[in-house]
Amino acid sequence: MRKPMVAGNWKMHGHRATNATLLDAIVRGLPTGIDAAVYVPFPYLEQVSALLATTPLTWGAQTLQAAPSGAYTGEVSAQMLVEFACRSVLVGHSERRALFGETDAQIAAKFVAAQAAGLQPVLCVGETLAQREAGQTEAVVASQLQAVIEAAGVEALSHSVLAYEPVWAIGTGQTASPAQAQAVHAFLRQQVSRLAPEVALGLRILYGGSVKANNAAALFAMADVDGGLIGGASLVAEEFLAICAAAAHTR
Ligand code: 13P
Repeated sequence: MRKPMVAGNWKMHGHRATNATLLDAIVRGLPTGIDAAVYVPFPYLEQVSALLATTPLTWGAQTLQAAPSGAYTGEVSAQMLVEFACRSVLVGHSERRALFGETDAQIAAKFVAAQAAGLQPVLCVGETLAQREAGQTEAVVASQLQAVIEAAGVEALSHSVLAYEPVWAIGTGQTASPAQAQAVHAFLRQQVSRLAPEVALGLRILYGGSVKANNAAALFAMADVDGGLIGGASLVAEEFLAICAAAAHTR
């Protein structure tokens, strides 16, 4: 019922020459039956939009500025992303929260600005290891989600995607177990369901954090895991394609 989605977050990686090779290989091997997307650094949006325009692989940016224009040196607005035919944008990635000090309020404003421009936000939530060990996982992800629901309204989630990315699993090779991922995904869906059951039913919740070809199928087999947000493995065509294939086979 929910179409699986596999999203590659390139983070600050890429080169003009290798981007073309990587994307060409991905497009050739992409299975049907899933939504696949890549989130690339801003300078590559023009190249990526040209390379992917006639393909089923969609693209987006990794963050945006909530303000529409103005004196925001270094920032990029939602409308600018639309000019490069982005369909969606990552919002609230843990690296943005931790390294660039983005607050729940700023992230909620970015979510609203993205939607106002017609972009689908992919809202990332997740707890640190210290928070998990202190038993705060549910409280942390609930408050990250709640900030967006308060700003945008629960119905806005039906035009978005949620991504659960436990900080301790990102780039560490330490994946959440399928049961750990499922527990948090089910909790997140239930948080939405209390307010809007239909929105919750249709909401895709991706898992991110050291997803690889060899663990994707077990994660995607979980009832509330609707695909993945992939970092390192999205930079290797065979790995990314194997993860896409795993997603295509789970439904
Ligand atoms: P890794 O897959 O490299 O752990 O990164 C996950 C992530 O942060 C995707 O947004």
